[in-house]
Amino acid sequence: MKDLKNKVAVVTGAGSGIGRALASALAAKGCRLALSDVNEAGLAETAAACGGAEVRTYRLDVSDRDAIYAHADQVAADFGKVNLVINNAGVALSATVREMTDEDFKWVMDIDFWGVAHGSRAFLPHLIASGDGHVVNISSVFGLIGVPKQSAYNAAKFAVRGFTESLRQEMKLENQPVSVSCVHPGGIRTNIANSARMGKSENGDAQRKGFDKLAMTTPDKAAEIIVKGIQKDESRILVGPDAWGIDAINRLLGSAYQPLVERFSRKNLYV
Ligand SMILES: NC(=O)c1ccc[n+]([C@@H]2O[C@H](COP(=O)([O-])OP(=O)(O)OC[C@H]3O[C@@H](n4cnc5c(N)ncnc54)[C@H](O)[C@@H]3O)[C@@H](O)[C@H]2O)c1
Repeated sequence: MKDLKNKVAVVTGAGSGIGRALASALAAKGCRLALSDVNEAGLAETAAACGGAEVRTYRLDVSDRDAIYAHADQVAADFGKVNLVINNAGVALSATVREMTDEDFKWVMDIDFWGVAHGSRAFLPHLIASGDGHVVNISSVFGLIGVPKQSAYNAAKFAVRGFTESLRQEMKLENQPVSVSCVHPGGIRTNIANSARMGKSENGDAQRKGFDKLAMTTPDKAAEIIVKGIQKDESRILVGPDAWGIDAINRLLGSAYQPLVERFSRKNLYV
């Protein structure tokens, strides 16, 4: 999808962070936008920042499977077609495997994995019908390596990667007019740490400060990289120098990356 002009683009979680920046970047490229979030105030701010582009906003909870399917049909009816779906909405949890509650584990999986899987499947018939479609699923560098206290997030983001890579190959093998990209951002300066849930013995303030120190890429830069990756039809879009570094370490060391992460985590995560 080299030319984004007049393409209908769907962005979930568009009320903040990467989703908001993607909405502005796509508006600047001439896309018509279907933006959704559970945060309606944030969504209205995003719509206002889209500078005159055609924008419709929808309240959508991506953990609600039936609502996603209804949303896909609604967007197709409202715009007459759907070309690009970015399954971006996500949440974070910092808790050890032993301490994490079932409820928090399910919360992360429902939004970060099932939200993406249902979002992909619900929109697929519309993307195929458009004759020029693209699915973009937001994983993370935590979909490339495992990290202590991130088991739920790791599970969701590894699952997104596997699901997305499989879907890309299926679309090619079936000669469908739909491409698929999986996005792996490093640390991006957004609200994700502020809305994260914490295990009961976690020091939330220290975790958030640590995140702020490590998050080196702005949402606008992340959006620019993602949009370029879509236009170049990249299967894997790495966002930020830290994402490139983590990907390289993973390739070079294989599973031997783990002692490095342990050493880093002892200093930075077990605080
Ligand atoms: N910020 C980072 O460092 C980073 C790194 C890697 C991956 N990511 C991923 O990027 C995506 C965007 O996150 P962000 O950093 O912009 O965070 P953010 O918190 O700034 O934005 C996330 C948005 O998702 C929305 N959301 C949360 N639950 C939802 C639900 N059930 N239904 C619909 N919307 C919901 C929130 O209201 C919010 O507007 C997420 O999938 C996240 O996992 C972020």
